[in-house]
Amino acid sequence: MAAGGLLAELLGHIRFRGPMTFSDYMRMCLTHPVHGYYMRRDVFGRGGDFITGPEISQVYGELVGVWCVATWQQMGEPPAVRIVEAGPGRGTLMADMLRVISRHERLARGASIELIEVSPFMRQRQREALCAPGGAAVADGAGEVRTRHGGMPISWHSSLRDLLARDDLADEHGGQPDAPASASGVNVPSIFVAHEFLDALPVHKFRRAPPARPGGALGPWREVLVDVSDDAPDSPPDSPPPVDAPAPNAVAWPARREPPRDEASAGAVDAADADSLRFVLAPSATPALALYAPLLPSTPPPPAGDAPDSLRAPERGAEGVEVEVCPLALAFVTEVAREVARSRGAALLIDYGPARGPVFDSARAIVRHEFARLLARPGEADLSALVDFDALAQAVSDVPGISAGALSTQRELLGALGLEARVNALLRSASGEQRAALISAAERLVALPGMGDEYKALAFCDARTGTPVGFRPGLGANAV
Ligand SMILES: C[S@@+](CC[C@H](N)C(=O)[O-])C[C@H]1O[C@@H](n2cnc3c(N)ncnc32)[C@H](O)[C@@H]1O
Repeated sequence: MAAGGLLAELLGHIRFRGPMTFSDYMRMCLTHPVHGYYMRRDVFGRGGDFITGPEISQVYGELVGVWCVATWQQMGEPPAVRIVEAGPGRGTLMADMLRVISRHERLARGASIELIEVSPFMRQRQREALCAPGGAAVADGAGEVRTRHGGMPISWHSSLRDLLARDDLADEHGGQPDAPASASGVNVPSIFVAHEFLDALPVHKFRRAPPARPGGALGPWREVLVDVSDDAPDSPPDSPPPVDAPAPNAVAWPARREPPRDEASAGAVDAADADSLRFVLAPSATPALALYAPLLPSTPPPPAGDAPDSLRAPERGAEGVEVEVCPLALAFVTEVAREVARSRGAALLIDYGPARGPVFDSARAIVRHEFARLLARPGEADLSALVDFDALAQAVSDVPGISAGALSTQRELLGALGLEARVNALLRSASGEQRAALISAAERLVALPGMGDEYKALAFCDARTGTPVGFRPGLGANAV
């Protein structure tokens, strides 16, 4: 029994080793090999827990495909290119992108598709979406699975590191084993795409310790940890606890991971947060605090209610404000930027988060389109956190040889890539019902306030290429 299985493992882990970081908790909940949220079932769409932009309209992936084609042209139309997507979900974004890419014969002839996906279950969904009809997926000697879409080879990797390590191996052997010349990653420009991948990476949570005396100044930063509640059962119940009552104003079909709006869903730090697990504050500095202290604000964060961005979670008082740091997202964009600079490539990362960091109080749990308490349904709830685009842009700008565009909203990006023209083209051959659906889906993607401004796009490319297509000049070119 999946949920009880993960809860039992979490309880055992904490009882044996002591409270765990929220980052470890989130990682186990999402990607535990047996019980992880993404590892077992389809979590998208009406029958799942949430919906994403590419699942709302085919136009989304088609416009990202347009971005890839235009980027390839801007690069001078190299004969071979590698298109890498991290966290492809059901494969919908890539399927829609490939419809556009395959119309450009020279690009399609030299393109290879690389998917970074941790979940064997999601890989299978991606195969179903992307495999040529009747085309079989084959495993090579290294356990990699390959297939083809319109002649383009597709491979899967469990992490960016795996993909790059494979390159190193191929480099040593003078090219990738059994891959056509065009598919070899070595010395081929990489175009990276990720949509709602970074928000699924685990975050550490930090907050200021309470004042030593009433009315005094807040204490030092401390890490927020996950502990066992005093009344936790020795062994977890067979069936998971019910989903928390939805927030009164939670919509029945929320935009992907909309922030909770009331305290019931805001992950309040108290024992009531879950039956068996609770948040506690580390009594002294943890290794993560020592590592990431430079990323924490030097002045106390404002009460969440005063925060300027509409994405903020509700006020819990200055003491309750938690700053979240996502080391894996920082490491991912740094590695991508290095690979982009090395291979003369480009990257487009779309996710939801505020334009200015740091990120406060954003981690959220969603079950069947309703918010749940953060610790209530380990392995059963989607956990995610807002992306700190400030920190990512800084990490990218630290990599020599990169030119980054100014951060765009989703509305700006889709507009720049031709949303209106594409929707109008589809409307010409649509029936009455299809027309209404097309228009409402497009409006939803660019709604203000809503997905149009809550989602942001960060793009960068090799500095010799210029400014990323569809973006205003941003950080500028760093010295190579
Ligand atoms: C929120 S879904 C986004 C799916 C898709 N991009 C979309 O927008 O519809 C996150 C995706 O990333 C994958 N994923 C989550 N954590 C991952 C990790 N650490 N490494 C690789 N893939 C991961 C999940 O299995 C899933 O396919």
